[in-house]
Amino acid sequence: MLQIDNVTKTYSHSQGPVRAVGDVSLTVNAGAFVAVQGPSGCGKSTLLLMAGGLLRPDGGAVNVDSTDPYGLKPDVRAEFRARRIGFVFQQFHLVPYLTIRENILAPGMAIATPDAETRSRADELIERFGLADRQHHVPGKLSSGERQRTALARALLNRPSLLLADEPTGNLDHDNADIVLNDLKDFAKEGGAVLLVTHDDRAVSYADSVVRMQAGKIIRD
Ligand SMILES: Nc1ncnc2c1ncn2[C@@H]1O[C@H](COP(=O)(O)OP(=O)(O)O)[C@@H](O)[C@H]1O
Ligand SMILES: [Mg+2]
Repeated sequence: MLQIDNVTKTYSHSQGPVRAVGDVSLTVNAGAFVAVQGPSGCGKSTLLLMAGGLLRPDGGAVNVDSTDPYGLKPDVRAEFRARRIGFVFQQFHLVPYLTIRENILAPGMAIATPDAETRSRADELIERFGLADRQHHVPGKLSSGERQRTALARALLNRPSLLLADEPTGNLDHDNADIVLNDLKDFAKEGGAVLLVTHDDRAVSYADSVVRMQAGKIIRD
């Protein structure tokens, strides 16, 4: 589902270039839950953004479901992302002035005004993630766990084939982290592909396979 071949990324800084990712290859098959673990600054977020069609690598290739997102025109790439890839981040990235339900429906808006089927998909996710009582509240009124479940529901709205999660449990207590990690696991069990990047040892125990990263490189597979 996700194939990354020898990707590299160097950022330019006033103090000179910083190689964030050097020559990393990784495959995540449908039904697999892969975790990349490594210390802060080792290049995990950079790798995830490149995997998700959000940051063009300097070298190497990315394929999502046999499509190179960087080979698509920007608007086509945005639609491809909205349909095929779900993102979950540590900081949730919910829209503060939209309700929980509107946040969950937001990726539907990227494609078209949500139709009845999309709205019923949102309702199903709201039920599944225990958000029914909170759906008409704004994110600021919710707990961190509820906000991350909202972000996960939003990520799943369009039934993506790939879920990319960047430190999704970084702001959660143990119980809420367990809930979210089990949801990622369920997504993989249902045939999706999950790539989780994190520094958290506990989080990686949910994955089928763990890749260790250090200073922009994979050190152990
Ligand atoms: N937008 C950016 N501009 C310049 N340097 C960056 C940028 N994003 C990340 N970096 C640098 O790239 C390296 C890897 O960062 P990152 O991918 O965020 O690692 P991680 O997610 O593992 O903490 C770090 O040295 C970081 O400072
Ligand atoms: Mg990071």
